[in-house]
Amino acid sequence: MLPIHIAILASGSGSNAENIYTYFARRPDVKINIVISNKIDAFVHKRAERLGIPSITMSKSSLSDAAILLGVLREYQTDFLVLAGFLLKIPDGVVKAFPNRIINIHPALLPKFGGKGMYGGKVHEAVVEAGENESGITIHYVNENYDEGSIIFQAKCPVLKKDTPGDVASKVHALEYQYFPAIVDQVLQKEFGKNN
Ligand code: GRF
Repeated sequence: MLPIHIAILASGSGSNAENIYTYFARRPDVKINIVISNKIDAFVHKRAERLGIPSITMSKSSLSDAAILLGVLREYQTDFLVLAGFLLKIPDGVVKAFPNRIINIHPALLPKFGGKGMYGGKVHEAVVEAGENESGITIHYVNENYDEGSIIFQAKCPVLKKDTPGDVASKVHALEYQYFPAIVDQVLQKEFGKNN
């Protein structure tokens, strides 16, 4: 029984990438095979090194070229992609090559506060500015458009009048750590079958 090989794509700190790695660390049926980033100085590389996961940096142009990205994914026998704080759009050719096998986490309740340029702190600032009384996380399949793939899971947290964007970010991160790995696991079971 070959493990399901996962590629994690991340542009920043990689706390979700590490959390997902830790969740599957003792699972013989799932293997985090590669971490791919568009940032050479992303802290996710340091985490990957410490965890013993190969990590590479690819240029924006290579990451936007389906043939190049597919080549790298195949080199690492990739079966499934997890976007964890990855800021670039996945080229259409890769989306087509991995139907229902690419998922992303967004730090807000899509379809609100999503789309190009809506990432990290900007999302939480927009939520507070809009006077929302709740926020949360959205885990969704990736399609040809930013943050528009079908929603797999959402979890909510209250936003209080006194909350700063930083407060909202902390609550949202807590939801990410609580749910993201388990939802990845659920999707793997669904897409690859219980006994893959
Ligand atoms: C997370 O909040 C995620 O929802 C968003 O980017 C952030 C990444 O954080 N897409 P980290 O790099 O996993 O710490």
